[in-house]
Amino acid sequence: MIAKTTTTTYLTQAFAQARAGTDALFGLVRPEAFYDRPVPERHRLIFYLGHLEAFDWNLITQAAAVPSFHQEFDQLFAFGIDPKPGHPPQDEPSAWPKIEEVEQYNVRVRRAIDDLCIDVSKQMLSVALEHRLMHAETFAYLLHSLSIDQKTPPVVSPSPPGPSAIPVMIEIPGGTVTLGQPRKDRYGNNQFGWDNEFESHEVSVASFAMSKYKVTNGEYLQFVRAGAKPPHFWRWRKGQWYQRSMWEEVPLPLDWPVYVTHEEASAFAVWTGKRLPTEAEFHRAAYGTVRGDEERTYPWGDDQPDRRRGNFGGNRWDPISVTATPLGDSAFGISQLVGNGWEWTSTVFQPFPGFQPLSFYPGYSARFFDGDHYVLKGASARTDPRFLRRSFRNWFRPNFPYVYAGFRCVEH
Ligand SMILES: [Fe+2]
Repeated sequence: MIAKTTTTTYLTQAFAQARAGTDALFGLVRPEAFYDRPVPERHRLIFYLGHLEAFDWNLITQAAAVPSFHQEFDQLFAFGIDPKPGHPPQDEPSAWPKIEEVEQYNVRVRRAIDDLCIDVSKQMLSVALEHRLMHAETFAYLLHSLSIDQKTPPVVSPSPPGPSAIPVMIEIPGGTVTLGQPRKDRYGNNQFGWDNEFESHEVSVASFAMSKYKVTNGEYLQFVRAGAKPPHFWRWRKGQWYQRSMWEEVPLPLDWPVYVTHEEASAFAVWTGKRLPTEAEFHRAAYGTVRGDEERTYPWGDDQPDRRRGNFGGNRWDPISVTATPLGDSAFGISQLVGNGWEWTSTVFQPFPGFQPLSFYPGYSARFFDGDHYVLKGASARTDPRFLRRSFRNWFRPNFPYVYAGFRCVEH
């Protein structure tokens, strides 16, 4: 195996598990659909089949100075895309290799990496692991947009019920929040985080009120009836609204969080006389406490995440009722701040003070500091629990509709 030290054993096991997870995900796609492009601004699915291994190869073996056995694939599968609006990729399916060729490449890459007689650093192994886990989520978005007859559904458990959501605004007193994380833990060891999670710094937040629940399909329906465009995940058929869930179309569940773009979320907030929270306000609502000088690890406290606390970790493919997981409420009684859908903030994605790009992956965040990406916090049903750490930041363009992202409003 890759790692030889006991400190990396846990990571090595997690990495093997993550490989099994992404293998299972690719197994849900019918072979011919690998050459489809379900999201126009992203690569065809075949790219992702090769990308995870090419990324690991380029990252890990480069550091070990191992010569390449397939430079063409190392480059072809090296980078994803995020084109500016109006500039979708133009490649043809014929430009991509056969599935079997990619699978053979993957097998060789895995074997070569696992046979490396070096200690891969904890940081590099964490990068490979989290890169794969992030793609497991974003691949689910692509899979979601793939037509239903091009995927093989697994057994799916029904959505748990929740009491009806009565919209209520909760007052949150002002306080100081910690954004980001320190590079060293309290014992002086390096802490893993992506470049945009450093440095740790304090921001003071004035009092505000936030909705207890995420905005639901039912609330957003009023906005659509008033003339707003329906969200990407909705379908109008035979006089009725449906939600396009991962494996079927279901009559629009009014108590599920609505998934919308940043532009749609902002427009709804304005329509109701409110606004989206800033990243710092989200932190205050999620991790702050009434006492004010303590911050929690997770909204519910310091206990490790488990499925009773929220809809995350890949236990489900779709949202659940916004009221279904009260055990995950924050100190102020705000529900589902992690899980059941990322939440758009009004904060433009920018580096924290002291930002330094990763030497071996300089573009990870820096290519997105263009003023056209917004910070999302929280997690979706498909987010790995590793990303529930407080400092983790997600970001997307404001008009990208394919993300499992909803929102809640704040006022004053
Ligand atoms: Fe990637």
